[in-house]
Formats: sequence, C-alpha cells, structure tokens
Amino acid sequence: MTTTTVNRVALIGAGSVGSSYAFAMLNQAIAEEFVIIDLNEDKAMGDAMDLNHGKVFAPNPTKTWYGNYTDCKDADIVVICAGANQKPGETRLDLVKKNMTIFKGIVTDVMDSGFDGIFLVATNPVDILTYATWKFSGLPKERVIGSGTILDSGRFRFLLGEYFDVDPGNIHANIIGEHGDTELPVWSHATVGGVPINDMIERDPQYKVEDLDEIFTNVRDAAYQIIEKKGATYYGIAMGMVRITKAILHNENSILTVSAYLNGEYGTEDVYIGVPAVINRNGIRNVMEVKLNEKEQEQFDHSAKVLKNILAQNFD
Ligand code: LAC
Repeated sequence: MTTTTVNRVALIGAGSVGSSYAFAMLNQAIAEEFVIIDLNEDKAMGDAMDLNHGKVFAPNPTKTWYGNYTDCKDADIVVICAGANQKPGETRLDLVKKNMTIFKGIVTDVMDSGFDGIFLVATNPVDILTYATWKFSGLPKERVIGSGTILDSGRFRFLLGEYFDVDPGNIHANIIGEHGDTELPVWSHATVGGVPINDMIERDPQYKVEDLDEIFTNVRDAAYQIIEKKGATYYGIAMGMVRITKAILHNENSILTVSAYLNGEYGTEDVYIGVPAVINRNGIRNVMEVKLNEKEQEQFDHSAKVLKNILAQNFD
C-alpha cells in the first residue's frame, strides 16, 4: 500500500511575524497542511478562519486549522515565532532572558508530542534561541535552523540592486554573523551578475565605496528604522522564513544564509550563527565555508564572540 507523505508545518506564535508567515505560506502554497498554535487561542482560531476564507483564491489549497501541541507530532517542520519582540531603542540581545524562558516551555511541549522533524526559529535573538532550541530539544544540530541573516542578505541584495539598477536576483551578496549589530557584509565575494563589486567600482566612477558602506549601514540598522516607523518588522522576515521552508519541503539543496551550528567552520565552534548553508529535506546538509579576507574574518570572530559570551551566561 503506498503511503502519501503530507507536508505539514506547525506554527507556534500567531503574532505579527507568525501571522505574516502563515499568510505568505498559504499564498505560495508551500505545504499541504498548516496548523496554528498560540497561547491566545482566539487569535490562532481567528487567523485560521480568516486564512481559510481566502483558501479558494490560493494557487493550491492548504488544509489550515487552529491546533495544539499534539498536532506537532506529525509535523515536518515546527516554526517558532512566539516571544517578545524589540521595542524602540531595544536591541535584539536585550530579549534573551525573556524569550529563553518562553522557549524552554515551547520546545519541551513540542518534543513531548513526539515531534521528530525540523525546528525553524525566527524569534530574536535568533542565533541564541536557535542554540537554545537545539539544546532543549536534543535533536541533531542539522535539524535545528534559525532564520539567521537570510533577511539581512535579502535587504543587502535589494539595496545593491537599487544602487546598480539590476534585478536583486542577479546580485550575489551575503550578510553573515549575528542577526544583529555585529553582522558583516562579505564584500570579497559580492558580485553583480558575476562581476565582482570591487571591479564595478574600479570601472565606473559613478560607483563609490562610501555609497556601499552606507548601504551596509542601512542593512544592519533596517529593523531599527522600521520599528521606529511602524512599531515592528514582520513582512520581510516572514518571506525569508517561507524561503527556508520551501527549500526544506521541496528538497532544494539551496544555499541560504541561515543560523547554523558551527563545529570549526569559519574558525569557531559550538555556536549558531548566520552563514551560507545548503538546505534540503533533512535540514542543513552542510555549511558553505567561503574564504573571508582578513577584515571580514576579524568581524566574524567578533560577532561569534559576542554570541558565545551570551551562551556562556545562559548555558554552563
Ligand atoms: C528584523 C527582525 C526580524 O531584522 O530581527 O527585521
């Protein structure tokens, strides 16, 4: 008898990011089943009802319902968007204590359901909370993934595309490190349609190094700018989370800058941090270790050190 495997995603946290992720998932028809779990049952139920009323307009139907932790047992991916988010003036790292406690409860409840799939974490500070999810769950490191710097790399490619007047899909440029104030641009491997950005500057005087430095500053500080304007960010991160979900469920072997566990790559270990990694049905297949120049390596080492110092304060 053939058994059909149904792709099920369980969302924990129906706040702005979680709801935006749910909306994007149904519009891109990435999974066959989607269950929404939240402490605020009315919100989760309301989101499920609201989304189901749009089902007929989606490219493919996704069976969507408000559920509970027992629905995680048969989930392929559990996505965690629950927790406190940054308020104006707060850094992502200010959220550690609050969200670490929340995560201990969530991950324990998910694992108690018999879940044996892949965790995908979005809540900030995402690198710390992805490490915590790995520790609390006991799952293999490749099956615990954080959104990492996927959104930062998306912002980077968008702004560079605007600057060079090129489709951002043809810009290859990554942000790595902490998803936060210590992240860094990998200029040494950034290209516009295969042309190194450094060559673009040398060939055409209209392009200036100081403009590129300003672009990176705007990438790094984008969340602060958006939070000042509208109180939170959610669309960009939700779309980045859908991109990672698609790479997993469609077994793509796509390379995305996610928060991955390092075991010596980039000269560091025992930390989750944003790096390019190959993503497929089994989670993280491998980390892609690009050769950083001296300045980039120094910046990466600093970023990893900031994260490891926080881990040392929270995990003995
Ligand atoms: C941001 C949040 C997801 O960078 O940290 O918008």
